[in-house]
Amino acid sequence: MTEEIRFTLDGREVTAEAGETIWQAAKRAGVEIPHLCWLDAPGYRADGNCRACMVEVEGERTLAASCIRKPKDGMNVKTASERAAKARKMVFELLAADQPPQVRHPDPDSKFWKWAHELGVEGSRLPARERFTPDPSHAAIAVNLDACIQCNLCVRACREVQVNDVIGMALRGHEAKPVFDFDDPMGNSTCVACGECVQACPTGALYEKSLMDEQAQTRTVWPDKTVDSVCPYCGVGCQTKVSVKDNKIVQVDGREGPANENRLCVKGRFGFDYIRHPERLTTPLVRREDSPKRGDIQVDPRNPWEVFREATWEEALGRAAGGLRDIRDTHGGGALAGFGSAKGSNEEAYLFQKLVRQGFGTNNVDHCTRLCHASSVAALIEGIGSGGVTAPFTAVEDADCFIVIGARPEQNHPVAATYLKQAAKRGAKVIVIDPRGQELMRHASHPVRFKPGTDVALLNAMLHVIIEEKLYDEQYVQAHASGFEALKEKVAEFSPEAMAPVCGVEADYIREIARTYANAERAIIFWGMGISQHVHGTDNSRCLIALALTTGHVGRPGTGLHPLRGQNNVQGASDAGLIPMVFPDYQSVEDPDVRRRYEDAWGQPLDPNRGLTVVEIMDAIHEGEIRGMYILGENPAMSDPDQTHARAALAKLDHLVVQDIFLTETAWHADVVLPASAHAEKLGTYTNTNRQVQLGRPAVSPPGEARQDWELICEIARRIGLDWRYSGVPEVYEEMRALMPSLANIPWSRIEREGSVTYPADDEDEPGREILFGEGFPTKDGRGRIVPADLLPPDELPDADYPMVLTTGRLLEHWHTGAMTRRAGTLNDLEPEPVACMHPRDIERLGATAGESIRVETRRGAIDLTLRADRDVSAGMVFIPFCYGEAPANVLTNPQLDPFGKIPEFKFCAARVSRVPQAQAAE
Ligand code: SF4
Ligand code: SF4
Ligand code: FES
Repeated sequence: MTEEIRFTLDGREVTAEAGETIWQAAKRAGVEIPHLCWLDAPGYRADGNCRACMVEVEGERTLAASCIRKPKDGMNVKTASERAAKARKMVFELLAADQPPQVRHPDPDSKFWKWAHELGVEGSRLPARERFTPDPSHAAIAVNLDACIQCNLCVRACREVQVNDVIGMALRGHEAKPVFDFDDPMGNSTCVACGECVQACPTGALYEKSLMDEQAQTRTVWPDKTVDSVCPYCGVGCQTKVSVKDNKIVQVDGREGPANENRLCVKGRFGFDYIRHPERLTTPLVRREDSPKRGDIQVDPRNPWEVFREATWEEALGRAAGGLRDIRDTHGGGALAGFGSAKGSNEEAYLFQKLVRQGFGTNNVDHCTRLCHASSVAALIEGIGSGGVTAPFTAVEDADCFIVIGARPEQNHPVAATYLKQAAKRGAKVIVIDPRGQELMRHASHPVRFKPGTDVALLNAMLHVIIEEKLYDEQYVQAHASGFEALKEKVAEFSPEAMAPVCGVEADYIREIARTYANAERAIIFWGMGISQHVHGTDNSRCLIALALTTGHVGRPGTGLHPLRGQNNVQGASDAGLIPMVFPDYQSVEDPDVRRRYEDAWGQPLDPNRGLTVVEIMDAIHEGEIRGMYILGENPAMSDPDQTHARAALAKLDHLVVQDIFLTETAWHADVVLPASAHAEKLGTYTNTNRQVQLGRPAVSPPGEARQDWELICEIARRIGLDWRYSGVPEVYEEMRALMPSLANIPWSRIEREGSVTYPADDEDEPGREILFGEGFPTKDGRGRIVPADLLPPDELPDADYPMVLTTGRLLEHWHTGAMTRRAGTLNDLEPEPVACMHPRDIERLGATAGESIRVETRRGAIDLTLRADRDVSAGMVFIPFCYGEAPANVLTNPQLDPFGKIPEFKFCAARVSRVPQAQAAE
């Protein structure tokens, strides 16, 4: 039972819950006490250093800081006594003495000035101390320590909330000041620009440059409105507060969403200006008759007029739909295909797959999930009957151990990473397994670097230990799992001693990590594309599922399986049916009962055969089977493996319609380009990696003639003969929901009201279920299926000609193919040029120096990039981010597919590296 404390506050009897401070209890009672060094937000502890919150406690000689003082039964607290009010006013006056005058203040509307005015303090009678020099070195954040009150909030924000450990408080007393690393200029420090300190700072000493004058010293911009929305980048799904001035986004802050509790990363906070980039598409374009398609074409998005001409909407839509309709009517629906987008909303994804299935008459519809977690989903559906996560990443708060394998959350899911780092600080055992080193290993009890491509060897060896040493949960296995005996037989041959030379991890260490995971009370596994993007990606995931099922680490708080989903809506787009084998909610297109339901709902017969996947569609174009495509918000010319092959395929199409916000590399090959809406311009729902369905609201209107994506899909649908009439996004959502059991009890009105609802929800009044499968699995027999995996080497091993291993991935600052982040000013300033990362020893062996130009070649092509030294990259390996259009990593990658998930092997191929002669590099 929660203990309640009764005390008197300004003459009223009030109650405090156990652990609450006077300040918190007063707030609940409707009394807000001034405060500066206390931030009433999740993750912040009170520090009690500024004395702005002093109150009088009857019978006590000194005043008490209400932000740290806890009430006791019978205590009599006066917040507004003359003594308390006078003391608080004096505190503000003292602090104001060192502030720049309000007219020249970094933020004249800061929390500091708000409270100062409330207390009647307009300035100070006291002499000011010496001024600090402004530090404008960071691309997005201005540092004006003139306005600093040494409240220490930025230090707690950086170290305790985001766990980045960059800011510290240096010197003492009057001299004290926040510093970055060793008192470096912020722009030269290891700051990752999450901006948590900016959001926390009560004075504006740390402030967004986007709201300030050119010198970054005084605020000049005040928004007209603020809109609650959700971040457009990764699958974490941080909720945002978007501030707008003159139809332009000027600031983004974090909101208290279930996945971020006010936190953001650099992309969500500072990557907002791409939507007003001069290259934004604002009018429909059609290809000029005299511009034939070529796979090696380069189009300047600022001057596309040699290839395209402007068109009216009527002409563009007529041509777009006409071309698709003609191919369907002449060659059949199987000659068409569509790529939808994991960046669009659920409603757009639903409409798009419906258009392809109902309007084109084929299941050839896919999206980039194929390129990120298709193998994980294949293994999860096979193993536990569901493709979603069994627990949110925030469940790590209850775990005493967790594994992160093949994932770099600090770069790709930065806000999720903050929860993992907090759990590590709390004392959870952390096993980080990756061929490349990473920051998270600093927090790991068990960092594990292993040879790339040998995941099954390592994981099977762990399973071997768990079975040999009887560390498995016999009761759980008996009640909830099948396939244990087959696993036992398979992993018998995978002893740690036998696998150590294969995976490069010592046998004793393999035993130790296996014991650590299996013996934990509650353990959870997170994985990323280092697991899934292999020809053995499904096998890798099968091993992880086997680990969870043998140890019973699933279905309870602090346990589970969590593939960290990449794009902001890759979970939702998959749920909504942008997959060639399944209708919405993963219902097989080959199941006659399921199909009948969709045929009844959509009023016509549907294709009974599974469609082609992303890479298969490219091959089918080369073979002349696919002749026309509609691509919405995806960029396969950059994201597909073996790019030369992919671009040649796009160029070969008789008809290509691209709907996007920029003239992407894919759009270069289009017949018709439809200018669409950016995330911040539209209404819709998005489902994050935690299965939380969240509402994105429009903050600004689309530029020029650009239109809403859902309307454009409907325009195409009507023009190819479908009678689609939707009144708006909510109606689309409700139609989709009627076909998706997972969204039962989550009507549009509920999402609008609550902003975020986890599915499944058992009742409209009940919160959704975060932890799934405590009572068994949604499989035919209710049991989880353990599927043993065998060793399968990567498709293309290094040899004498190509002696290195190439691996690809993302950077913190750039998202996916870079279409948005390369056009976001701050993000591009932070990471402006294509780089290839190698271990310093390999660089030395090459006779090169970091910063020079190098050529990376594979059997599929070559690109030139700037060499960067990185000790995290193993010897013998080269890492290239795939976001750079001028040096596209996917020219190099291997399109070989995992046989189950049909995902290409982006994470491993043979490569060679050479220096580029200087004269050539300068050209
Ligand atoms: S910079 Fe801001 S948050 Fe940091 S100590 Fe100074 S006033 Fe406090
Ligand atoms: S963690 Fe992901 S969702 Fe959150 S702000 Fe960063 S990019 Fe956006
Ligand atoms: S807000 Fe309580 S001491 Fe600063």
